[in-house]
Amino acid sequence: MPNDRRPENMVRITTPELADAFIEEQLQALRDQIGDKKVLLALSGGVDSSVVAAMLIKAIGDRLVCVHVNHGLLRKGEPEQVIEVFRNQMKANLIYVDATDRFLDKLAGVTDPETKRKIIGGEFIEVFAEEARKLDGIEFLAQGTIWPDILESEAGIKAHHNAGGLPEDMKFELVEPVRILFKDEVRIVGERLGLPANMVYRQPFPGPGLGVRCPGAITRDRLEAVRESDAILREEFAKNGLEGKVWQYFTVVPDFKSTGVKNGKRTFDWPCIIRAINTTDVMEVTVEHLSDELIDHLVQRIITEVPGINRVLFDYTPKPPATVEYE
Ligand code: XMP
Repeated sequence: MPNDRRPENMVRITTPELADAFIEEQLQALRDQIGDKKVLLALSGGVDSSVVAAMLIKAIGDRLVCVHVNHGLLRKGEPEQVIEVFRNQMKANLIYVDATDRFLDKLAGVTDPETKRKIIGGEFIEVFAEEARKLDGIEFLAQGTIWPDILESEAGIKAHHNAGGLPEDMKFELVEPVRILFKDEVRIVGERLGLPANMVYRQPFPGPGLGVRCPGAITRDRLEAVRESDAILREEFAKNGLEGKVWQYFTVVPDFKSTGVKNGKRTFDWPCIIRAINTTDVMEVTVEHLSDELIDHLVQRIITEVPGINRVLFDYTPKPPATVEYE
């Protein structure tokens, strides 16, 4: 594989010029590796897979087949943005699979966090493999592996998601065009490839998506409350200049109800928890302190706009002891 390891003396990509030079070199390497064959990519809409898609569209056009699996746990507007950016603007060969019902049916009644994660990961591979089997003549699988993934898997910190655990009979040669880059370099390269800033600079989002922010057994109504409150939080952070400044921020809707009152009537609804944190390595995390005005505004919007919520709580706990996500 070309560019297997990051050269020791490689200059950190910090400018548009350096990014452009990397892109030129990489496009040639991709064309040499792939020839006139076809490539398959699981396009989640995250930074790494989006940059890989943009790079391959430039290198081989519609011989890249992108599969976007909507597992029903994505944030509001995300699948729409993937379709808009890649299919409509970049003219990608994009297969969109709305597998929401399939995932939510499998997850129904499942309370254990690890079991939820396993179901989401396993089902994802199954849906992706089913789509891959329908295609002819694919010889390559593209992946958004980045340099820290390689370093961490070598150090035994985490299992590298090589070939994503596809079934044994599905063998592809790997194409990893951002394999030697650090995250900040991937972002600059993505910008130079024409991806929108909110895609390239987005906050980290866990693979199991909103599933881990709907603790316990996921129900469609509580999941919707997470999705709507998360959208309000993101909108308000953007308006208040906090987007891109705060590392990660999200809402959680736990599986218990409390008494409230609305329009003179008793309610029995969920609370919505807001968590906003800063970190450099995610091992230690500090809390972003919000202004009183913003807190009041967020509370007002969420209790009036999100069905099923009658209380808003703020999680001001650092890590340790509290992890970033709730499960
Ligand atoms: P925790 O909760 O462990 O999270 O303090 C640390 C960072 O990792 C993200 N996270 C995940 N990312 N798949 C992912 O891709 C996951 O299953 C997962 N769980 C947590 C979390 O959002 C935070 O940025």
